[in-house]
Amino acid sequence: MFLGKVLVVFGTRPEAIKMAPVIKELKKVEDITTIVAVTAQHREMLDQVLKLFDIVPDHDLNLMREGQDLYSITTGVLEGMKEILDKEQPDMVLVHGDTTTTFAAALAAFYRRIPVGHVEAGLRTRNKYSPYPEEMNRSLAGRICELHFAPTDTARENLLAESTASFKIWVTGNTVIDALLDTIKPEYKFGQELSQIDFSRRIVLVTTHRRENWGNSMRNIYEALLDIVNEFPDVEVVFPVHKNPVVREVAEEMLQGRERFHLIEPLDYEPFAHLMNCCYMVMTDSGGLQEEAPSLGKPVLVLRDTTERPEAVEAGTVKLVGTNRDKIYQEAKRLLTDSREYEQMARAINPYGDGKAARRIAKIVTEFLYVRLGAQM
Ligand code: UD1
Ligand code: UDP
Repeated sequence: MFLGKVLVVFGTRPEAIKMAPVIKELKKVEDITTIVAVTAQHREMLDQVLKLFDIVPDHDLNLMREGQDLYSITTGVLEGMKEILDKEQPDMVLVHGDTTTTFAAALAAFYRRIPVGHVEAGLRTRNKYSPYPEEMNRSLAGRICELHFAPTDTARENLLAESTASFKIWVTGNTVIDALLDTIKPEYKFGQELSQIDFSRRIVLVTTHRRENWGNSMRNIYEALLDIVNEFPDVEVVFPVHKNPVVREVAEEMLQGRERFHLIEPLDYEPFAHLMNCCYMVMTDSGGLQEEAPSLGKPVLVLRDTTERPEAVEAGTVKLVGTNRDKIYQEAKRLLTDSREYEQMARAINPYGDGKAARRIAKIVTEFLYVRLGAQM
């Protein structure tokens, strides 16, 4: 019995990684038609993931422009989604996380009175400017959505605290673990992209991109990295630099050409996941890395003032160190010199799920469509 059409919408690299397992599971359900629309708020970084997971979008808004701002992304997604929704008439829309694509796509579906499911729902810092604009994007998307797929109990509690009805929330785990487990292979060998790196040294894997860190905070982070590499001759920094020109400009100005710094292009998810798996530690302002690295037993220093991922902090594998140069340096030094401290953080724990989150989400979506169809008969 045909249950309905599900439209999965996303636009950036992390959303693609985390939605790929959901698309895979939904496509296994014969009674549902699953279609994919990308806003392409990201281009190259999105395409890298589409290729790896063999996703061919049914619609591609191709929105990305150099120097795009929050207004142009929001209006581009809204206008573009209007046409896709009119053409496809989906029975429900699925969005992910906290990007501007997430919020604007949910809003577009709401304007057509189409129910929306939110994957990775309920993450909160309760500070609307940190992370900016993500905290507001996910809060607003949450108000719109009918189904909330919370990765953890904490996320569920956050939603309940905002008076979200408990029967609309499911704790599923985070689909990033599904993607990671699907990707990591014991026999994997790196290609040419990492040939310059001396793996006999301790590898510190770095990524940065958060808007609230643009300017002085980002400079502080890079100064601290210089301090660390100067002090520890057996450390190499591998830094796949985000495509955002704001990040690139400062990173290249301060770190390019420095000894034992490898500023490289964003890596495909497969080599990146394996690099995480063999690095000494991670220093990042990314959201996703705070979920992935703990499940690989890698300590993470979070270069932000807030985190919406308290589970790994509580478990002790992730530490929030902020953006003060000396604080970052001291915390990194501790991990590089104190083996007890290192061992305490380097415990493989997995507060974000068992790799079956996407299966659960597909099942819940199927049941939702079944009940909805029944109500229409
Ligand atoms: C976006 C999301 C952020 C998410 C991050 C993941 C918003 C407002 N921000 O931030 O929540 O954590 O993605 O990485 O939704 N660019 C390229 N090629 C790419 C990708 C980006 O050239 O493949 C450049 C473009 O010049 C683009 C710029 O990066 O204009 C910024 O991209 P944008 O999506 O606006 O912001 P991000 O910082 O990537
Ligand atoms: N990632 C990747 N290649 C890279 C850097 C990161 O595939 O060169 C992956 C990483 O494993 C994680 C995701 O991209 O799953 C994180 O993306 P990002 O930091 O851009 O966004 P956030 O997680 O902060 O939303």
